[in-house]
Amino acid sequence: MKGAYKIYTDMDTLSHAAADRFVMLASRYLETTGKFNVALAGGGTPRSLYQLLASVEYRGRIDWSGVSFYFGDERSVPQEHADSNYRMARESLLDRIPITREQVFPFETRLDVRKAAAEYARLLQRNLPKADGLPKFDLVLLGMGDDGHTASLFPGTCILHDDRLAAAVYVEKLKTWRLSLTYPVINNADHIMFLISGESKAQVMQQLSQNTESHFPVSRIDARDELLWLLDEAAASTMETTR
Ligand code: 6PG
Repeated sequence: MKGAYKIYTDMDTLSHAAADRFVMLASRYLETTGKFNVALAGGGTPRSLYQLLASVEYRGRIDWSGVSFYFGDERSVPQEHADSNYRMARESLLDRIPITREQVFPFETRLDVRKAAAEYARLLQRNLPKADGLPKFDLVLLGMGDDGHTASLFPGTCILHDDRLAAAVYVEKLKTWRLSLTYPVINNADHIMFLISGESKAQVMQQLSQNTESHFPVSRIDARDELLWLLDEAAASTMETTR
């Protein structure tokens, strides 16, 4: 598997390590460029990281005024829906730190999914600096499903071959449309941090660590500078690890 991995006892120690790394990276970019462009992960695992970053323990360590928040993917639901990744990020982080709405760029899920994806791609082109001609995130946070998907790059879906910056994808197993960044823009990020927790992820992590299964969408993820997998012991329980 590409990149480096670190294994933590549990979700809490994993989230603290992720928060420390987030602060370190944000501080580095804010000092050198005055900006920090990050794409947030959805799902459940990152919630505790977001809550930590908004906590008294961490909130004061970052000058949030230079941070811009984007999203790795989104469900095709209204922004106030319980399943919305934007709502999860708002409740756990964005509404609890000193930022303005102009610093947050959710997918426009009121639009038709294809229009929303095209609009997001245009937004990335407008807002982000370029590297090798493509928009470049400073950091992309990602989770991983128990089928080896990440963002909404699901196994067997056409988005895996899409060279646009963002796309809409129908996910048969979920019977729903999703919106997602694609490999070209995710892999153009300087830093990528996976947050992976729980026994349900162990089988994929084992296969990735043995390099036996490269069909998982996560196996095509790479970063310009650093790809880091933060795992708890449950997710890493059957990995072939070189301690
Ligand atoms: C989403 C995420 C998705 C998530 C994985 C893992 O919208 O659900 O972007 O890719 O990261 O499904 O989800 P958990 O962290 O909840 O296991």
